[in-house]
Amino acid sequence: MAPASSSTAVHMICLCICFLVSFLAWDQVSAAAAKVPPGITGNISRAEQAVGFHIYYGQSFKVIKNGVDSKSYLLIQESSRMATRTKYCTSRIKSFVIPLANYSADTISFPVSYFELLGLLGSMKGITSDSVASQCVLKAYKAGQIEKINYTEPQQMAEIAAHFISNTLQPQACNFATFSPQVEETALQKAEWIKYLGVFANLELRANQVYNQVKENYNCLTNVAARQSASSLKPSVAWMAYDDGVWSFTREKYKLQYVEDAGGENFDSSISKMSYNISIPEDLDEFHAILCTVEVVIDETYAADPVAYNLSSFLQNTGLEDVSCLAFLTSKSLWRYDKRSQQDALDWYDGGVSQPQVVLADMIEVLFPTGNYTTTFMRNLAKEEVVVSINEDMCERDINTPLDPTIIPC
Ligand SMILES: *[C@@H]1O[C@H](CO)[C@@H](O)[C@H](O)[C@H]1NC(C)=O
Ligand SMILES: *[C@@H]1O[C@H](CO)[C@@H](O)[C@H](O)[C@H]1NC(C)=O
Ligand SMILES: *[C@@H]1O[C@H](CO)[C@@H](O)[C@H](O)[C@H]1NC(C)=O
Ligand SMILES: *[C@@H]1O[C@H](CO)[C@@H](O)[C@H](O)[C@H]1NC(C)=O
Ligand SMILES: *[C@@H]1O[C@H](CO)[C@@H](O)[C@H](O)[C@H]1NC(C)=O
Ligand SMILES: *[C@@H]1O[C@H](CO)[C@@H](O)[C@H](O)[C@H]1NC(C)=O
Repeated sequence: MAPASSSTAVHMICLCICFLVSFLAWDQVSAAAAKVPPGITGNISRAEQAVGFHIYYGQSFKVIKNGVDSKSYLLIQESSRMATRTKYCTSRIKSFVIPLANYSADTISFPVSYFELLGLLGSMKGITSDSVASQCVLKAYKAGQIEKINYTEPQQMAEIAAHFISNTLQPQACNFATFSPQVEETALQKAEWIKYLGVFANLELRANQVYNQVKENYNCLTNVAARQSASSLKPSVAWMAYDDGVWSFTREKYKLQYVEDAGGENFDSSISKMSYNISIPEDLDEFHAILCTVEVVIDETYAADPVAYNLSSFLQNTGLEDVSCLAFLTSKSLWRYDKRSQQDALDWYDGGVSQPQVVLADMIEVLFPTGNYTTTFMRNLAKEEVVVSINEDMCERDINTPLDPTIIPC
C-alpha cells in the first residue's frame, strides 16, 4: 500500500491511519467541527450547513470525509515528505497530492462554475462532454486548453492529477474524486460544497469568502422577500414536469424552499396524488382542476433542445382544450429554468447550484414581478421569452481570473 522507506515515513503513515480510523465515527465528532491540531491557523474551511462532508486538518495533510461515497480523501501537501512516499487507493481511502497540478471533470453532470468561482479554470485539462453551460469553459475548450476526454478510455485520464465526478455509481480509477452537492437538501448547503473543492487547491480563504458572500446575499434577499410578502397574498406555485404522457408535480426540498424564501407558497401539500396520466379522462380532469388553483407554474419538462420548447409545446403537453381558468396563463406566470443553456446543458444545474442567491432573486421576480430585474435562469414561457444560448464569445474574463459571485442589490 504505502512504500515506507524510513521510520519517519512509517510514523507519519501510522499517524495518518489513526487519524483516518478515528473518522469512522465522524458523525459523533461532527459537532466538534473542524479538527484542527495546535499550530494550524488560518486558511481553514469548515462545513457549517452542508452535511455531506467534513474536513480535518493535519500539519502537512488534510482529510475530507465524504459521507456520500463513504470515502476519506487524504490530501497531502506537495511540499511534505509524505507526498512522495504515500499513496492510497482503497475502497475507503484515496490520496492526492495538493495543490492539484491539474484536473478534469465529468461535465455530463458536474457543475464547473465552482471551479470558476475559485479561479481554477487554468488548470482544467479535460471535460467528458462539451455540452457544458459555461462560456469560459467553452472558450478554453475551443482554444485547445481543455480537451475532450473519453471516459471509457481510462488511460486518457491517467495523466491527470484528479478527475472529478458527480455520478458516484460509475467505475472509478485511483485519481477519481467525487463531488456531490446534489445530495444536500437546501440550496445554501449545495453552495457550501465550494469549500470541498477549495481544499484540493489550498484555496480555503477564497472558498470561505465566496460562500459567505453568497450566504449573506441569500439571507438578505430572503428577509426582504419576507417583508414584501407579509403585506400581500402569497402566490401559489407548482413545479411540474411532463414525461411520456404523464405530468408529475415535483417536490424536491430545495425547490420548495426557494418558493418559501421568495415569499410564495407551495401549492397544496395535502394533495397526495403527484402524477396525472393525461390519456386517462379522470386524471386529466383532476389535473385541470389543480392547475386552475395555482398562480405560478414552473414547467420543468426536459427538452433536448430548449430553444424549440415554447408555449405551444407546453399547451400541447397539457392536453387541455379549455385553458380559460388557468390564471398563470392570463397573468403570464408560466416559467422554465432553461433560460441560460447550451445544447441540453442548463446553467440552472451549474451556476444555479453554486450561486443560489441569483436563483432566489429570479424567484422573487417570478413571484412579485417588478419588470425592473432581468432574470438569469428563469424564462417566461407565457411571454415567449427566448433562450440565451451560451457560447464562448460571452466569456469576458481571462480564464485564470476567478469569477466573482453576483451580488444582487439588497
Ligand atoms: C493562507 O493562504 C494565503 C494564500 O491564499 C497565504 O499567503 C498565507 O500564508 C496562508 N496562511 C496560513 C496561515 O497558512
Ligand atoms: C470512447 O471510447 C469507446 C471505447 O473505446 C468507443 O467505443 C467510443 O466510440 C469512444 N467515444 C468517442 C466519443 O470517441
Ligand atoms: C498533470 O499534472 C501531472 C503532475 O501531477 C503531470 O505529470 C501531467 O503531465 C499533467 N497533465 C497534463 C495534461 O497537463
Ligand atoms: C397512460 O394511460 C394510457 C391509457 O390508459 C396507457 O396506455 C399508458 O400506458 C399510460 N401511461 C403511463 C406512463 O402509465
Ligand atoms: C413554437 O414552435 C413551433 C415549432 O418550433 C412553431 O411551429 C410554433 O409556431 C411556435 N409557437 C409559438 C407560439 O411561437
Ligand atoms: C423600478 O425601479 C425604479 C427605480 O429604481 C423604481 O422607481 C420603480 O418603482 C421600480 N418599479 C417597480 C415596478 O418596482
